[in-house]
Order: sequence, then C-alpha cells, then structure tokens
Amino acid sequence: MFNYEQYKESADYIKNKIGELKPKTAIILGSGLGVLSDEFEEKIIIKYKEIPNFPISTVEGHAGELIIGKLNGTQIIAMNGRIHYYEGYDLKEVTFPIRVFKLLGIEKLIITNAAGGINTNFEEGDFMVINDYLSFFAESALRGTNLKEFGERFTDMSKTFDKTLSAKLKEIIKKHIGRVQEGVYAYMKGPTFETPAEIRALRVLGADAVGLSTVPEAIIAHHCNIKTVAVSCVTNMAAGVLDEILSYDDVKQTAERVKIKFKEIIKEYVKVIEE
Ligand code: HPA
Repeated sequence: MFNYEQYKESADYIKNKIGELKPKTAIILGSGLGVLSDEFEEKIIIKYKEIPNFPISTVEGHAGELIIGKLNGTQIIAMNGRIHYYEGYDLKEVTFPIRVFKLLGIEKLIITNAAGGINTNFEEGDFMVINDYLSFFAESALRGTNLKEFGERFTDMSKTFDKTLSAKLKEIIKKHIGRVQEGVYAYMKGPTFETPAEIRALRVLGADAVGLSTVPEAIIAHHCNIKTVAVSCVTNMAAGVLDEILSYDDVKQTAERVKIKFKEIIKEYVKVIEE
C-alpha cells in the first residue's frame, strides 16, 4: 500500500526534472513495443530506479524508464517497460505509475500490450482495440484502503475504455494495416501461458484475446478519471488454438515484425487525439 504523499513525492521528483513540459497524454509500451522511444524529440529520460517509490521492471524487453518528450509534435510521457504482477509485485506497485501520472496532469492514457488471440478470426500481427475485459481470476487493483484523493470506493466499470478514443484508434489502425479487430481482453496472472482448457473456457466466457497486463492499470486510471484506450498486438494465437508450443521468443518476433506499423499508428494517433 502507498499513501497519497508517496505518489506526490514521485510526481514532484518528475515535475522537477521535466520543468516546462506538461504532457497531457501517457502511453504504456508493451512487450517488444518499446521501439517508439526512438521517435521522441527533445526527450528527457528518467530511469524508474531513480524515482522515489517507483517499482522497477525486471522483464527482458522492458527497459524501465520514463521518456518525456515530443512525439510527432505532441508532448507525451511514455513508460518504456511496465511492471507486471507475475514479477512478484502487488497490484498497488504495478499501478503506482498511473496515479503519479494523474498528479502530473495526465488526462489520457494509451495502454499497449502483447496478447494471445482467442478469437479464431484473428491472425498473428492483428491489432485488437480493447472494448471490455474479464478479470475473474485476479484481485482488483483497488483492493485495500480507498484513497479518496483519487476516486470513490466503488467504481463503475461499464465504460472502462473511452469510446471516442477507441473509435479514433480503430480508424487509424485500419488505415495503416487494412484491418482492425475489437474485443474483450482476458487478464490472467501469469507467468505461465494459459492451458488449452483455460483458453476454451475464456472463449466461452466471451474473451477475444488474453494477456498478463493492462487491466490493473486500466482500473486505476478509470478510478481517477483518466480517459483510457487500450490495444493488443496479437503476437500469437493462444494455447491450443494452433497445435504449437508457445514461447516468449515468438511473442517478441511478432512484435518485431509489426513494430514499424505500430510506430506509425501511434505517432498519428497522438496527434489526432490532442486536437
Ligand atoms: N497469453 C498470455 N499473455 C500473452 C500471450 C498469451 O498467449 N501472448 C502474449 N502475451
């Protein structure tokens, strides 16, 4: 658990470093999607480990730094490397940066991730804009004392993902790739990939894709009234969909294959939603 002062201490540290910059949009870069960091201009990099109270990502392919700068002319703060529950952190640590963003004045959050495709109409390399989630098997990131500086005790989750932001993202993905998916993301705790039986069950429950992130951050962002949009890169078909063994190497390989398109999509998107 963190208290309000700890979030504030981290935010003040970052404010001090970024001076005049006042980004209104934040983006979390998912596995293998950190490539976007090359595109920032006039950037300031702050390592997580130098920020008071900030958790540190331990996953290969996740750099562990904040990048603040201009992306296609728009001020953005990016998390290059996110923190996952499966690394052993609790969900208050996983979501710590989101409340710090709130205190920095962030109004919009773009969450990206790598996910397994459950919907059999999906193909590897597809992008799925998330319109809802399933999180039956994990505790809520809001469990514990409510910090009312951030929001209410009980939070409506019927509109977790902002419709207008999502529609604009779909449009831009379609333009760049020729196709776009939309659907329900099932959040699992990991670090194992799912079993084929779990994937069949999740499909019956209405899931289109599955992954190990995003939902805790989306809950905390929604609680403190940050408009949120989330997109999965379908890096592999989920367990049992194809007769294949899953590996993180394959996840990274697909992310590598789509990274140029991903960059172009996000660069255009941040400009469009700033207006
Ligand atoms: N399952 C869970 N997380 C993932 C997957 C998957 O198949 N692919 C990428 N992240």
